[in-house]
Amino acid sequence: MNLDGSAQDPEEREGSSVCVGREDDIKKSERMTAVVHDREVVIFYHRGEYHAMDIRCYHSGGPLHLGDIEDFDGRPCIVCPWHKYKITLATGESLYQSINPKDPSAKPKWCSKGIKQRIHTVTVDNGNIYVTLSNEPFKCDSDFYATGDFKVIKSSS
Ligand code: FES
Repeated sequence: MNLDGSAQDPEEREGSSVCVGREDDIKKSERMTAVVHDREVVIFYHRGEYHAMDIRCYHSGGPLHLGDIEDFDGRPCIVCPWHKYKITLATGESLYQSINPKDPSAKPKWCSKGIKQRIHTVTVDNGNIYVTLSNEPFKCDSDFYATGDFKVIKSSS
């Protein structure tokens, strides 16, 4: 609801940032979960940077907030606790290793399946952490578990 009593445009509402906690707290815990406009997200604090993404893994809905962070190919990734998929914190790409079958002696190479997990924007203002949901118009695989029948949080409207 706007201050003048009119209903807020849903797209405008989803594009607005939401305060999810205090910088001091996430720096201690290094991760936190939040609900931003009915969407569950996880926020990581890793090596001095903040990253936010859909909380449910794009593969089968695994709880990414319970995964470990490890580097693969020099890129920090959250490792899903269910089937160990590796998702980059910065871009939401899913990484895998491939080997050239014509050259089995070659070392496995890290490759990207593309962006599979939706990444959201984190900003810090006056010690508060804000998350703004991504409004990138592409269809992201993690949307499946973040919207519709599969999302855990149901809107009251
Ligand atoms: Fe995340 Fe399968 S649910 S890897």
